[in-house]
Amino acid sequence: MNNNKKSSFVFRQLFDKDTGTFTYLMFDSDTMEGLIIDPVKEQFDRSLQFIEELGVELKYVIDTHVHADHVTSSCMLRDATGAKSAFGETSAVQCADLLLSDGDELEFGRFKLKAISTPGHTDACTSFYTEGRLFTGDSLLIRGCGRTDFQQGDPEKLFNSITQKLYAYPDSTLVYPGHDYLGRTASCIREEKSFNSRICSGQTLEKFVQIMNNLNLPKPKRIDEAVPQNMKCGYSLELGHVNEDNFTMHDLHQMLDKLNPTEKVIDVRMPSEYNQGHVPGSLNIPMGNEQAFIDEIRGYDRVFLHCHSGRRAQTVYTMLSMQGLENLVCINSSGMADWQQAAFPVEQ
Ligand SMILES: [Fe+2]
Repeated sequence: MNNNKKSSFVFRQLFDKDTGTFTYLMFDSDTMEGLIIDPVKEQFDRSLQFIEELGVELKYVIDTHVHADHVTSSCMLRDATGAKSAFGETSAVQCADLLLSDGDELEFGRFKLKAISTPGHTDACTSFYTEGRLFTGDSLLIRGCGRTDFQQGDPEKLFNSITQKLYAYPDSTLVYPGHDYLGRTASCIREEKSFNSRICSGQTLEKFVQIMNNLNLPKPKRIDEAVPQNMKCGYSLELGHVNEDNFTMHDLHQMLDKLNPTEKVIDVRMPSEYNQGHVPGSLNIPMGNEQAFIDEIRGYDRVFLHCHSGRRAQTVYTMLSMQGLENLVCINSSGMADWQQAAFPVEQ
């Protein structure tokens, strides 16, 4: 038996075709610690499925910036996996666990992801480097760059970020952007220095500023909805919106026998967790499937939501409340962990 298991860097590129957004999942195959960059809310199920199937222990959920075109699933993945959420320092995203400064490094297994402050598209735009790859968000795109006409955008800052920071990496460094709308998936620094139509090497600041100030682009379709939600890590409602009943799994246990047919316990954990043991009579609707919740919940007068520790239940509760659903009891300060600890009956 060879016990010297060798770490290797595992990398997956995912795509959301509605918004042309790339999401990047990477991990150390030895420790299984990993991180995800720019996950999309509508693709939460797919992201979590990859993380679970591959057995990734997610340490960080990272957004390259406060997006204007899609909503992040940062909070949902954080709640589902226990990962820490991270944004660039000047984003002022208050619910983020980490605000990253230029040069900060996030470790996952034996690998490190380095934050590179690249303002210009927005003021808090952050690119990342690891293992010969640059994740450039909307700063440097394939043969283009992010627009600079909203969210404190500044063409001069973007010019400096790209030419002084990103183009300082070796020519062979791969470039993985935040978006592409033409089916291209990756580039490299040499290619962009040679062929980027807005900012190849040799481009002058004056010419670049002139190009960027005359793009006359329409306002992004989802900006009014996306930016406020992204400032809350993707939550739809105010953070800290909690069920005031302060209902626990012990309360649930006490009344389990007395539930009538119009009351239901819903377990929002993943099916694999549910199958290992759940509250007798509970129904499994994993977090992320809002429509299934809405369809199912309609038939009940009262629904008790729980997960393992309470975080996912709180996320689901917040989302369902936003949809106008009432009669929800959120068990957000405890969960299946307490149920098992108390040795309450479990169904398999
Ligand atoms: Fe953007």
